[in-house]
Amino acid sequence: MKDTLILSLENVRSYYAKGNYYVKAVDGVSFNIFKGEVVGIVGESGSGKSTLSNVMIMNIKKPLNFIEGKVILNVGANFLELNTLPRQELQKIIWGRETSIVPQSAMNALMPTKKIRDFISDLVKDHFERALNEEEIIERAKQRFTDVGLSPNDIYRYPFELSGGMRQRAVIAMATLLNPRLLICDEPTSALDVANQKLVLKTLEQLRKREIVESIVFITHDIATVRQIATRMVVMYAGKIVENSPVEDIIKDPLHPYSRGLLLSVVTPEPEIKKRGISFIPGTPPDLANPPIGCRFHPRCPYKMDICEKEEPPLKKVDTNREVACFLFNK
Ligand SMILES: Nc1ncnc2c1ncn2[C@@H]1O[C@H](COP(=O)(O)OP(=O)(O)OP(=O)(O)O)[C@@H](O)[C@H]1O
Ligand SMILES: [Mg+2]
Repeated sequence: MKDTLILSLENVRSYYAKGNYYVKAVDGVSFNIFKGEVVGIVGESGSGKSTLSNVMIMNIKKPLNFIEGKVILNVGANFLELNTLPRQELQKIIWGRETSIVPQSAMNALMPTKKIRDFISDLVKDHFERALNEEEIIERAKQRFTDVGLSPNDIYRYPFELSGGMRQRAVIAMATLLNPRLLICDEPTSALDVANQKLVLKTLEQLRKREIVESIVFITHDIATVRQIATRMVVMYAGKIVENSPVEDIIKDPLHPYSRGLLLSVVTPEPEIKKRGISFIPGTPPDLANPPIGCRFHPRCPYKMDICEKEEPPLKKVDTNREVACFLFNK
C-alpha cells in the first residue's frame, strides 16, 4: 500500500527581517510527513525548530517572512498549496481543523483570569464557527478532556488550578477538538517532570492510535524523548535539515556527524556528558544572520574536508528511507 502524504515542504525558506538583514531561521527545508507517522524534530536551541513549526501551518507573522518554497497539505482528497492562501482563509479552513499546533510554552501562556471554558469559546469564535456551535464544542471538549485523562469538569477550572502536566494535556485537548489530521507539538514535555512527561507522551500516542489525529510532529531538544514516541527523526542544524531517518536506524547508525554527536550525548553512560546534553559537541551553533559558507556544521565537524568549506551539501537519499546532507555520503 502506498503511504498517504499529509504534508510536504519543498525547499522552504523563511527569514526574520531585522533592520537591514535577515535571520535565516528556516533555509531550504524539504521533507514529507505521511499518515500514521510521529516525526520527531530535534536540534539545539536556536536551530529553527519553532520557526519551522509555524511555517508548516503557514502562520507567518512579522518580522517573519516567507521567502520561497511550497507548503503542501493534503485536505480531503486534494493537495492545497498553503503558501498561496491568505491568512484569513488559513484561519477559517485549515487551522484547528486540518492542522493544529501546541506552541512552545502554550501551557504557561493561558491567561490566569480566564476559565478553560472561556478559552474554548474563543477558539470557537476564531476557528470553528462554521464547524460546530458552541454547545456542541463544549460537549466535545468534555469528551476530549476525558480522552486525555482529565475530568470533564476541569473545563470549568482556571489554568492555575491545574498542575503543569494537567495544563499541558488541557492544551492538547483544546488543540485536537476538531480532530485535525496533523498535530504539531513544540516542546510539549520540556517543562515537565518525568512522570508528567510520560503522561503527555502516552496521551499523544493514544490520540494517534485512536485516529483522533493522523500524524504528529513532536519538536524537542531532548533525543531521549523522541526515542520514546517518534517513528522518524528529523535533525535540524542552523536552519537546515541535516538528517532525516527512521528512529531505529539513526540510533543504531547515525550518519551525519552532527547526529552522531547528538546521539553520543544521550547513549553515553557518563552522567557528566549526559547532563551537558547536546553541547557535548564542542563549539557553538553559527549566527543565522551570517552563517558559514559551505556546510553550516563545518566549523564544528571532526570530519571536515575541503569541499565542506566551499559547497553546501544537499539533503540526499542514501538508503530507501534515509536522507543526509553531508559530503561524507554524497560525493
Ligand atoms: N521574532 C524574532 N525575530 C528575530 N529573530 C528571531 C525571532 N524569533 C526567533 N528568531 C531567531 O531565529 C532563529 C531560530 O529560532 P527558533 O525559535 O525557531 O529556534 P528553536 O530551535 O525553536 O530554539 P529553542 O530550542 O530555543 O526553542 C534563532 O536564531 C532566533 O534567535
Ligand atoms: Mg523553539
